[in-house]
Amino acid sequence: MRCKVDYLVIGTGMAGLIYALKVADHGKVCMLSKTNLDDTATSVAQGGIAAVMYSPDNYEKHIKDTVGAGAGLNDENIVRITITESTERIEELIDWGTQFDKEKTGKYALAKEGGHSEHRILHHKDSTGFEIQRALSERVRQHPNIEVFEDYFAIDLITQHHMGMEVSRHNNIVCYGAYALNKASGQVETLLAKTTMIATGGIGNIYQTTTNPAVSSGDGIAMAYRAKAQVEKLEFVQFHPTSLYHPGERPSFLITEALRGAGGILKTKKGELFMHKYDSRESLAPRDIVARAIDNEMKLSGDEHVYLDARHLEKEAMINHFPKIYAKCLSIGIDMTKDMIPVVPAAHYSCGGIKTDADGRTSIQNLYATGEVASTGLHGANRLASNSLLESAVFSHRAALEVVKDIDQIPYEDKLPDWDFEGMKLNE
Ligand code: SIN
Repeated sequence: MRCKVDYLVIGTGMAGLIYALKVADHGKVCMLSKTNLDDTATSVAQGGIAAVMYSPDNYEKHIKDTVGAGAGLNDENIVRITITESTERIEELIDWGTQFDKEKTGKYALAKEGGHSEHRILHHKDSTGFEIQRALSERVRQHPNIEVFEDYFAIDLITQHHMGMEVSRHNNIVCYGAYALNKASGQVETLLAKTTMIATGGIGNIYQTTTNPAVSSGDGIAMAYRAKAQVEKLEFVQFHPTSLYHPGERPSFLITEALRGAGGILKTKKGELFMHKYDSRESLAPRDIVARAIDNEMKLSGDEHVYLDARHLEKEAMINHFPKIYAKCLSIGIDMTKDMIPVVPAAHYSCGGIKTDADGRTSIQNLYATGEVASTGLHGANRLASNSLLESAVFSHRAALEVVKDIDQIPYEDKLPDWDFEGMKLNE
């Protein structure tokens, strides 16, 4: 057995890190990364994190925008919880050392993105996720109760099934930890845990083009499904309208929606405006509408991309707010202050996933899920821009508060067999 802990956390993006930091004051934590601690979708998130910070914004407006973007298929109770807890969670991230951009007045500089009726996106230039990951990773690495196993690939959640018992979705299924492949030794090891949190992120890499890093390959959802956890709404896959058109590059480089929020305008390859035909909010409509509009224009014209035009925007402000995008475009010969940026939709976010309640509980006892892998009900059919990092902050916090309550009452299941693929009967 490789470890015996109170809290096993699979995945090291923002959702897993926040949860780990919060439960670590109540017991031993083991975190697994398939590669390394900072190789996560959080690290490449550009635009920011949505939250209600100042008037004239308020919770009701953010709730309305979230439900509007989600086509009304959101769980309104979950939406309300998320939005009304947003300000507190942002304050916590700031206390933990995250630096968001500020205006000269000292107030936080808030950007606007598609589907938002107000400026409410906190950001760190165009590398917001990287900054959040930096602040949280530093704390995790220093915490004496958290051990991080890098290059460990979780392959199966351990339930009664592995002890030879019949398991069906109607039984009380219990999770006892996970089997994970130690990539260095080639051995599958047993990780025994009182509670297990899946925070493995999304599924982008099952598509030909995606903005997600290679680690977002859907194996967390697959593992939970094999263990007979309830999964839902997997049909709601969000395509980001503007990934950089650069054939052969994988993952696709994201051109943040905040660039449209700053005034960037979509045009056809011929340089013609088209978004007015699809939505009165034009280039700042919610991203499902914009992605479908671009797809339609590409089908009508036969072109392989459209353009995002930022040439009319103030040069210094552009370079200062979007240094990463500016540098990336320049590296392939596009100066976004003089040239239009070729863009195309790419798979970006899974709105569905492992079904959880308002405290991160799945349908399996002692198994929790948080972040993109979870389906909390916040997003409905389409996620409002920059609501995902917020969802991670809110539900990792809530799950942590819940899971620590009964941890002393949960026994370890010491009779777990070693991983035996040959002898493993399929859990059908
Ligand atoms: C973006 O910066 O456009 C992506 C942010 C998000 O997916 O919410």
